[in-house]
Amino acid sequence: MRILVVNGPNLKLLGTREPDIYGQETLDGILARLAERAAKADVELKTFQSDIEGEIVSVIGAARGVYDGIIINPAAYTHTSVAIRDAIAAAGIPTVEVHLSNVHRREPFRHTNLTAPVCIGQIMGFGGTGYLLALDGLLAKLR
Ligand code: DQA
Repeated sequence: MRILVVNGPNLKLLGTREPDIYGQETLDGILARLAERAAKADVELKTFQSDIEGEIVSVIGAARGVYDGIIINPAAYTHTSVAIRDAIAAAGIPTVEVHLSNVHRREPFRHTNLTAPVCIGQIMGFGGTGYLLALDGLLAKLR
């Protein structure tokens, strides 16, 4: 079982970025926790972070036939990117969307979501633990 984990813009700044909203855990810390859980579940993880929309589109576009599932936090592109939405839909790979914060409790512009409708599920508001919950949910669907 192979899972692709995609993180969008500004998420490499986790740890120092608005810690009152996103917590103090770094992206590496979150991914280490995820890797541990994946190893226990006999899952191979590939992680990717980019601030660039087109790079995220390309990575998802190349995922078909390689990965069984995708976990994605599109970050700000969640609210704007038709291209990432179309890439997820085109890939046809079961995808779970994660947000560290509960975007429904935040600014109205974050209530627009272009990517969730092409995902099988969404987890938000649990900080880095959301990635682990996403893995559990994805595996429950895939296995
Ligand atoms: C985020 C929420 C987005 O609105 C924001 O632009 C992010 C992070 C989250 O994980 O809570 O960069 O995706």
